[in-house]
Amino acid sequence: HILILDFGSQVTQLIARRVREAHVYCEVHPCDVSDDWLRQQAASGHLKGIILSGSHASVYEVEDRAPQAVFELGLPVLGICYGMQTMAQQLGGQVQGSAQREFGYVEVRARGHSALLRDIADFHTPEGHGMLKVWMSHGDKVTALPPGFKLMASTDSCPIAGMADEARRFYGVQFHPEVTHTVQGRALLERFVLEICAARPDWVMRDHIEEAVQRIRTQVGDEGVILGLSGGVDSSVAAALIQRAIGDQLTCVFVDHGLLRLHEGDQVMEMFADRLHLRVLRVDASELFLRELAGVSDPEQKRKIIGRLFVEVFKAEAAKLTASGASKTAAKWLAQGTIYPDVIESGGAKSKKAVSIKSHHNVGGLPEQLGLKLLEPLRDLFKDEVRELGVALGLPPAMVYRHPFPGPGLGVRILGEVRPEYADLLRRADAIFIEELRSTIEPHSGKSWYELTSQAFAVFLPVKSVGVMGDGRTYDYVVALRAVQTSDFMTADWAELPYSLLKRVSGRIINEVRGINRVTYDVSSKPPATIEWE
Ligand code: XMP
Repeated sequence: HILILDFGSQVTQLIARRVREAHVYCEVHPCDVSDDWLRQQAASGHLKGIILSGSHASVYEVEDRAPQAVFELGLPVLGICYGMQTMAQQLGGQVQGSAQREFGYVEVRARGHSALLRDIADFHTPEGHGMLKVWMSHGDKVTALPPGFKLMASTDSCPIAGMADEARRFYGVQFHPEVTHTVQGRALLERFVLEICAARPDWVMRDHIEEAVQRIRTQVGDEGVILGLSGGVDSSVAAALIQRAIGDQLTCVFVDHGLLRLHEGDQVMEMFADRLHLRVLRVDASELFLRELAGVSDPEQKRKIIGRLFVEVFKAEAAKLTASGASKTAAKWLAQGTIYPDVIESGGAKSKKAVSIKSHHNVGGLPEQLGLKLLEPLRDLFKDEVRELGVALGLPPAMVYRHPFPGPGLGVRILGEVRPEYADLLRRADAIFIEELRSTIEPHSGKSWYELTSQAFAVFLPVKSVGVMGDGRTYDYVVALRAVQTSDFMTADWAELPYSLLKRVSGRIINEVRGINRVTYDVSSKPPATIEWE
């Protein structure tokens, strides 16, 4: 396998992801592992190479150095950004601080001949030099090569942008090959891992399941685990994975807050309880939620109420389980479907020593309050990897590739006060919209409009407008349709759905949902609008 030593960069997990994409098993460990531990790893014969990550800090701000053994094992080493700088410094070169930060896209010129960059280039200069389009983010830079190293790449502002000691197979790059902005980054990392380290590309998602299962078993032993199941992708995949590991030591609690989509509660039960045979406690708390939300129209207040009630209901269920006599269900662990982007969002990725685990924003603080230990088996994975894992675990693709649905549910899609009758109208309109998106195929791609959009839903507007139906006048509510395309949900474009599709959806909603007589389409992008209306 490949060992990645983490110096606390935000993008360390991206390195791991690229290695996994090359079908090579890798492990991320903090940079301060001991020399002895490293030697043991190397002695096993399975360790094929080491990657030193970047850092958010400067070599002058922090004491972090690679364990000296890294350079004594006879294994290939690749240093990235800070990893290259510490390598240079530890092996007798020089690093200089700089007030000036270089950040963003640059073109790097390959120098000399190196096994790492051989035949890898985006284009060539008229003189025949290979050029790479790369992503840089650094202040400090290497100013003198350590003995034995040769120059491998340079830019005008960073004369030593890459260095290599071919005899010892040590390489350093100042830029970040792990980010997609570095066009040849994947080729470069594959070159290092597959050719220079000669790691075997035999790792597949099935192995990941096996490893994760073993890890969960070791962690949990024979203790009970509870998990808040929402029906969303992350908690569903976490549930399926944990069940694979510990079977009926897992109990899922599904809180139905009455703000779910049409038939969603039944579908969650059908899938997890009936088909996958998980133990799922369905808690119907819709009356409580709707009662507490009555008369409240401020969006932030609504979110707070929903969040607070969710925690209360979940805590009450968990307390029952923690107290229950049966050892299998007496919960000692709280499992969460936290994925890597959540870890970054909550700032957890910066704490490389990885002891203080941050809670997922949806149920923050819960494990402490409940006195439970936290189990987060998806913490290192990206969304698309979680989906792949879900499919490998046997979850239906239609479920795993569902659009995201916000925790507060229809509570943020009914503008202003939430009333049961509004929720009922919205659920039916939304179901028609989604059904039509799923069944309408875009001919060029052969994909449905559901697949071609990142998120789509209906929004209930509590205003009435005048219409005409048959011979009579109507005076009914309005829904807005929202469909967006985005890769990260930070920015989004409204989707250019075909008019024929919009026409069919509006016709069906107005005819089939009595109480709605007007449908509009939201043509606002994010920013300045947000995806949800509240
Ligand atoms: P906005 O409306 O901020 O939404 O553009 C971006 C993405 O986040 C989802 N969203 C939420 N998800 N709890 C969640 O779990 C929330 O309170 C929440 N608010 C927004 C939204 O559906 C979109 O995918």
